[in-house]
Amino acid sequence: MKKYIVIISMLISTLTYAQKFEELALTPPMGWNSWNKFGCDVSEQLIKEITDAMVSSGMKDAGYAYVVIDDCWQVGRDENGNIIPDPERFPSGMKAVADYIHSKGLKFGIYSDAGTHTCQRRPGSRGYEFQDARTYASWGVDYVKYDWCNTSTQNAQASYRLMRDAIYKAGRPMVFSLCDWGFSKPWLWAEDVGHLWRATDDIMDCWDCEDDRNNAGFTILLDRMVGLDSYSGPGHWNDPDMLEVGNSGLTVSESRAHFSLWCILAAPLIAGNDLRDMSEETKMILTNREVIAVDQDPLGKSGSKVRDDGDLEVWVKQLADGGRAVVLFNRGLTKEKMSVLWTELGYPTFLKAEVRDLWLHKNLGKFTTEFTAEVPPHDAVMFRVSP
Ligand code: GLA
Repeated sequence: MKKYIVIISMLISTLTYAQKFEELALTPPMGWNSWNKFGCDVSEQLIKEITDAMVSSGMKDAGYAYVVIDDCWQVGRDENGNIIPDPERFPSGMKAVADYIHSKGLKFGIYSDAGTHTCQRRPGSRGYEFQDARTYASWGVDYVKYDWCNTSTQNAQASYRLMRDAIYKAGRPMVFSLCDWGFSKPWLWAEDVGHLWRATDDIMDCWDCEDDRNNAGFTILLDRMVGLDSYSGPGHWNDPDMLEVGNSGLTVSESRAHFSLWCILAAPLIAGNDLRDMSEETKMILTNREVIAVDQDPLGKSGSKVRDDGDLEVWVKQLADGGRAVVLFNRGLTKEKMSVLWTELGYPTFLKAEVRDLWLHKNLGKFTTEFTAEVPPHDAVMFRVSP
């Protein structure tokens, strides 16, 4: 009898919290994360200054909401197993950081790892999942990025489901960001586990460099996203990693192409630069509302590559109003004339449609059959086609 009661109560508890928080991330999450620019050099001071800059730079008004502290905020566990934030770098504690971020109308994100240690050898959450989720909830965390280092023989699905359940049980809605670099093909199983999942290794601050661990520049990561578009949708997004716009490795035109393509993919838009010190060009790219509107389109479709002529690629995304967003991407070293055919948009050739350039903020007129534009080298032209 006792055995049955135990089994029934286990079943009930499973049914009551084996789910993720729905209604979060119905469009791709937007925010900022410390890793790309600052690595382990994170502190309370930095996070507060970035929070202020998010507001004063116009990033908040453009839709960026989450301020996420990546690896290295944690140094150990106390005798009860509670995670300890670095007391020197975060002297006021994480609740105070969260309160500050919330007081500016923004949301707070934090990082942990499914294994024994994070990628930077800080304590991971393995064995402490429920305790850590409760701690995050008590601090006011709104977003958890969960990495995959030092996981030995752990099973990815089981490990991520465990943390999902822990977050749900803790009772505070938190976006759950899976980061196993696409190793377990999370797009096949994580729709009911997380709100976004990394589909690639780490982005590097360059056009097409690559290291021996498959980390790479944005054009190479873009190639690895081909074919994954059908797995993204409201509440569950493919994540090709954070933005490098505003860091030093890309030219302005390359940054414009990077941002255009991340938006056509409906990628999470997580800035990775120093928001306190942005050039006008960087600000204009990151806060271009017409381009962001493509990323945030409520239909939640990821775009896909409809044509690949070597260095010249055409990417198309279906939009909620029946329109299409198009990126003409030139990877080559010379200016090129590029076209998109209406049939590649899923339109009949006779259809008359307005074309609006999303970088020039200009209506270009009504067209049938096709649209042609000149695309500078290492750059992209992005427009919206509205029948
Ligand atoms: C992994 C992740 C990165 C970052 C680092 C931190 O490499 O993919 O995004 O979080 O760990 O150590």
